[in-house]
Amino acid sequence: MDAFLISGPCRVSGSLAVSGAKNAALPAIAAALLAERPVALDRLPPVADIRTMKRLLSGMGVALSGEAPATVTLDASRLASTEAPYDLVRTMRASILVLGPLLARFGEARVSLPGGCAIGVRPVDLHILAFEAMGARVAVEKGYIHAHVSRVGPQRGRLTGATVRFPQVTVTGTENVLLAATLARGVTTIENAACEPEVVDLAALLSSMGARVSGAGTPTLVVEGVDALHGTPQPHAVLADRIEAGTYAAAAAITGGDVTLLGARGEDLPAFVAALGAAGADVAPCDGGLRVSRSGPLRPVDVETAPHPGYPTDLQAQWMALMTQAGGTSRVVETIFENRFLHAAELVRLGAQVRVEGHTAFVTGPSRLEGATVTASDLRASAALVLAGLVAEGETLVRRIYHLDRGYAAMEQKLSSLGARVSRVEG
Ligand code: UD1
Repeated sequence: MDAFLISGPCRVSGSLAVSGAKNAALPAIAAALLAERPVALDRLPPVADIRTMKRLLSGMGVALSGEAPATVTLDASRLASTEAPYDLVRTMRASILVLGPLLARFGEARVSLPGGCAIGVRPVDLHILAFEAMGARVAVEKGYIHAHVSRVGPQRGRLTGATVRFPQVTVTGTENVLLAATLARGVTTIENAACEPEVVDLAALLSSMGARVSGAGTPTLVVEGVDALHGTPQPHAVLADRIEAGTYAAAAAITGGDVTLLGARGEDLPAFVAALGAAGADVAPCDGGLRVSRSGPLRPVDVETAPHPGYPTDLQAQWMALMTQAGGTSRVVETIFENRFLHAAELVRLGAQVRVEGHTAFVTGPSRLEGATVTASDLRASAALVLAGLVAEGETLVRRIYHLDRGYAAMEQKLSSLGARVSRVEG
């Protein structure tokens, strides 16, 4: 199994091109299922989750051509199957994003239930309730969600617009309903919708395909269904990955470095940028991106995860790593997922002082970290261990890097280009 071997401590500096956002690329690929003509996407990140999503669509009969970084074209004009099998769905929860498009265009879908993951149970009940409100019949049988829309009667195989009010903000739930609503009969209003930039990016792509969407980026999305969607008139460039950008910004801050993140936009990460500034880093927009550096000491800053524009849960683990180097105690509160502190115990193995009480972690620093072998438990936890490894004395071996490869493009190469000593090894 692949591992990262990091020799620390180091200081990262230089400039880096931020990849396309995994979490925007996944729904964009699912959107191709809605169209009768090819959908072209630019800047798909070369990460494992995107390869899984492409495999999923290709298994349904979608014709794919091109390889990132070139334009990737997806042609779903002839589909052989409307099923998402367990083998692929279990490796990636976001596969659930095919449910809405399949149901909307073909009137039926069979998608494996995603099941649990390391950071919690993460049910998809809110997706299912929304599709039921839009007229679908949904049954869970033998581990599969089987959804269909009656072909007889007034529905004639088509979803019906409805008002969907999510009791809690769900990002892929919002995206799934948005995707489905584009081809529903009538108007769908999504209340308490996710406002994440990835939702805005999806709405822009769908609009370019002929969908009628308004309110993207606000808690109320209104979608007027149309009879069919065409392809993209020109390739849609997936937005830059704000979580990847935030992770490298944290690398600059933790090592006292100076990194320019090309393509990053501070407005996509308002709470993170504010926290970074309060902690003593300089964050400034620059030509084509964002420059992050630190020369003074790190100060402790509390963060609490929340839906956008709040502090992103996907940068919580990285913040914990950063705070191990701040002078004093900070509180990191996780409100989105029930079990997202698996990195805390591993950081402690490197010499950090972290105490977890329920949904709150107390981090006391600055700690002198020492290289050790640690094991990654999930995607963002892996990134936190790499950040800690950059400032730990000696060699840190981060095992089970396959989690990291799901969402970070060639992280060892990107960090090495900034002057860190990171290599991929067997371990
Ligand atoms: C997405 C992101 C993930 C990020 C998360 C929160 C993608 C592919 N993934 O995940 O990186 O960490 O948003 O910003 O974009 N919930 C339910 N029932 C549902 C749906 C969600 O109870 O039907 C709960 C979840 O368990 C969780 C909370 O709602 O506690 C938010 O989850 P959600 O926003 O749906 O996360 P994902 O869309 O899976």
